[in-house]
Amino acid sequence: MALGYLVGSIPWGVVLTRVTGAGDLRTIGSGSTGATNVLRTGRRWLAAATLLLDLLKGAAAVLIASALFSQAPLVAAMAAGAGAVVGHCYPVWLGFRGGKGVATLMGVVLALAWPVGLVFAAIWLVLLATTRISSIAGMGAAASAPLTAWMLGKGMIVPVLLGLAVLVLWRHRANIVRLLQGTEPRVGGRGSAEG
Ligand code: G3P
Repeated sequence: MALGYLVGSIPWGVVLTRVTGAGDLRTIGSGSTGATNVLRTGRRWLAAATLLLDLLKGAAAVLIASALFSQAPLVAAMAAGAGAVVGHCYPVWLGFRGGKGVATLMGVVLALAWPVGLVFAAIWLVLLATTRISSIAGMGAAASAPLTAWMLGKGMIVPVLLGLAVLVLWRHRANIVRLLQGTEPRVGGRGSAEG
């Protein structure tokens, strides 16, 4: 879990925006370190790179842990995956103010059970395409993951996915308020958001 936390706490969005001179991500939009907020810098390729790297760090944490702890690979993988999402959301390097965990969770789920991960990605894409609201897509995909895992016969990972779905929803509490108020910005649209 500690290993996963360290991998997950690499704030790719902050690193990429800083090294490319796009500004300090924590002072932009919602202040979140994820790809949605990177998109608010106007640099689409940077947001895409953040999404990919945040996803890959989640998958890497799972795969490294299961390779290192071969006597109990699934337990190690689940612990590292949970650690990675927590690390993304609460990175020690940034005063525990990170992202909202969706891309990292997607990588974790893909590495834990790829069919569940593919359904996660599909739900995220469909919700994003239909609503253009990133938080709805992220919360919908995260909340459906435990059910998908159960339906696909991956009962062992249901508890950890339940816990991580709760964490992702908790990280989106400001988004939920904005959704209820009708002020949540759409992807690609104007409007700031507070984290
Ligand atoms: O994955 C994060 C997204 O769901 C919301 O991000 O910056 O709009 O709060 P943001």
